[in-house]
Amino acid sequence: MRKIKLPALAAGLIASALALSWALLVLIVSVRPAQADGLAQETEKYCLSCHGNPDLKMTLPSGEQVSLYISAEDLQHSVHSPAGIECEACHTEIKTYPHPPITYTTRREMARTYYLACQKCHSSNYAKTQDSMHAQAAAAGNLDAPVCTDCHGAHNVRPPDEPRALISTTCGKCHTQINQDYVQSVHGGDLLTQDNPDVPVCTDCHGVHNIQDPRTAQFRVETPDLCARCHADAERMSKYGLSADVYGLYNLSWHGVDVAVYKAKWPTIWHESAVCTDCHGIHNIRRTSDPASKVNPANLLSTCQECHPGVGANWTAAWIGHNRIDPQRTPFLYYTEVFYRSLTPIVLWASILYVALQILHAAVERVRRSLP
Ligand code: HEC
Ligand code: HEC
Ligand code: HEC
Ligand code: HEC
Ligand code: HEC
Ligand code: HEC
Ligand code: HEC
Ligand code: HEC
Ligand code: HEC
Repeated sequence: MRKIKLPALAAGLIASALALSWALLVLIVSVRPAQADGLAQETEKYCLSCHGNPDLKMTLPSGEQVSLYISAEDLQHSVHSPAGIECEACHTEIKTYPHPPITYTTRREMARTYYLACQKCHSSNYAKTQDSMHAQAAAAGNLDAPVCTDCHGAHNVRPPDEPRALISTTCGKCHTQINQDYVQSVHGGDLLTQDNPDVPVCTDCHGVHNIQDPRTAQFRVETPDLCARCHADAERMSKYGLSADVYGLYNLSWHGVDVAVYKAKWPTIWHESAVCTDCHGIHNIRRTSDPASKVNPANLLSTCQECHPGVGANWTAAWIGHNRIDPQRTPFLYYTEVFYRSLTPIVLWASILYVALQILHAAVERVRRSLP
């Protein structure tokens, strides 16, 4: 009996030890994240115990005064806080007070130091910004060129495109005049405030993080394709009663053929042949019927004269624009075309008839001669 009891006791002991360690394991596993969460919030609470004070300020070596107040309300609405990203995720060096000595002297240098924290988690966007026009401007010494936080904020990061009109407002903080033109244009007008995705915002034409120089020869010859993304889309254009043929007909025009040749062969050589924006404007594009439009009949001649100096009114009258030739708008061209179109078959049939008669005549002649 004893011999049996002992192993049973051992088995019981082992079983209860196993159960105990399992329970402990479960306890640790379940407590761990809660504890980590608690710690993060503890850190935030700790930091905000001083930085939640609206009067906390500091004077930089440059003499600038910076508010050190961090609003709990902003943090709550930021995309990061609900995802569990707290102070220490970005301010990795700062753990307690007193803080390590600062490495910057001006407010701007401070922004340009701390924004580097964003690349830890958003490395692909960071990489894109590094060869953008903005980074080039900064490299050339213009420290006002934007970094992540100028467009997104630091403690108050919100979805950047809700509503879509927010995008042009963000760019417009610095590109004020362009944004003003844009807001009054057919693209940036009412439709944009209605959050309509059919009209372009700044980033549709320029990109977001990898903005390139739009004044190069290459960008210029690619402009028609940029506009064609929407203006050759029949479904999108039909909603606004606009023709989706403008791109196709442009490509058949003198200007379009010229530009296509440069695009294919010499994309980096500047060429003046007209692209869409030369006639319609860039950020200030208006409806054709708007008296302020560069292509309104009242202004069209002077638009052509920008590149064809000295041409007269007959120049625009003879030009068919984006239109197929039609009897109302271009009667002369229309009837000339009708004339040639009907003339060609007449001439063709007459020639065939003539040749047939000649053959017949020759045959009759031969038969007649062979008769005695
Ligand atoms: C005991 C109060 C106190 C606490 C707690 C505190 N700070 Fe500060 N913090 C200050 C004061 C005061 C300054 C002004 C500069 C200085 O005295 O070092 C400052 C400055 C700063 C600055 C700007 C100067 C710099 O170092 O770049 C940052 C960023 C900052 N704190 C982040 C934090 C973070 C993150 C935490 C939490 C981990 C935190 N602070 C906790 C008081 C505090
Ligand atoms: C997503 C990253 C991120 C998080 C999270 C974050 N910060 Fe910052 N913080 C920054 C950046 C970037 C700057 C520089 C901002 C600028 O240029 O205005 C900054 C600047 C500051 C400053 C200097 C004053 C100012 O407003 O520019 C203080 C103080 C500060 N942070 C404290 C905190 C505290 C406290 C927390 C947590 C409650 C926190 N930060 C969370 C990125 C972050
Ligand atoms: C610790 C990692 C981490 C750091 C550091 C960080 N982010 Fe984020 N960020 C995230 C995560 C995760 C999300 C997604 C949150 C969500 O969708 O719930 C996010 C979302 C965003 C979004 C919103 C995207 C959208 O589609 O709405 C923006 C904008 C953004 N971050 C910008 C920044 C900027 C600017 C900084 C630096 C000041 C920064 N982030 C630093 C992790 C981070
Ligand atoms: C010149 C302004 C500007 C700068 C600088 C900028 N962004 Fe953005 N970012 C935007 C805009 C505008 C959008 C929304 C784009 C859209 O929907 O077309 C956006 C979108 C985003 C998104 C969400 C979409 C995505 O691509 O995942 C993230 C995340 C983001 N940015 C992070 C960053 C980070 C990190 C940096 C710095 C390395 C940065 N941004 C620099 C303007 C900017
Ligand atoms: C914080 C200010 C700021 C914001 C915000 C900003 N930019 Fe810029 N941008 C600049 C500066 C500065 C330059 C360089 C100008 C120079 O060197 O002459 C520049 C240059 C450019 C250029 C190149 C043409 C040129 O003049 O050099 C384009 C295109 C551009 N920005 C588009 C945008 C778009 C699109 C947005 C929004 C997504 C935006 N910018 C947001 C400041 C800003
Ligand atoms: C429909 C397309 C389109 C939209 C939308 C657009 N742009 Fe442009 N942008 C262009 C083109 C094309 C050029 C090149 C013009 C040229 O040949 O000089 C340009 C040029 C620029 C330049 C450099 C030239 C200059 O005049 O300084 C900046 C900066 C710029 N855009 C910013 C913006 C901003 C900011 C917005 C939004 C408010 C915006 N763009 C919206 C197409 C667009
Ligand atoms: C993202 C799509 C999109 C892009 C890209 C775009 N457009 Fe538009 N455009 C529209 C829409 C949609 C309308 C109609 C708006 C309305 O009628 O309210 C419009 C209207 C116009 C009009 C006014 C037509 C009229 O007489 O009513 C002109 C001209 C125009 N665009 C030219 C251009 C040029 C030039 C470019 C390229 C530099 C361009 N668009 C790029 C979507 C776009
Ligand atoms: C040489 C000048 C010139 C060029 C280049 C040009 N346009 Fe036009 N565009 C006009 C004129 C003039 C009108 C108004 C009369 C007409 O419809 O022909 C017009 C009308 C339009 C309309 C209104 C059409 C409608 O249905 O009412 C749109 C949209 C348009 N153009 C877009 C473009 C796009 C996109 C490009 C480039 C692919 C372009 N234009 C190139 C001169 C030009
Ligand atoms: C941005 C400058 C520019 C604008 C604006 C412009 N053109 Fe042109 N156009 C050119 C160039 C460059 C050529 C090619 C000349 C060559 O290859 O010899 C050309 C060629 C032509 C030609 C054929 C060749 C010729 O010289 O007879 C016609 C027709 C023409 N343009 C009409 C117009 C009309 C009409 C307008 C106004 C609605 C206009 N253009 C606006 C630059 C422009």
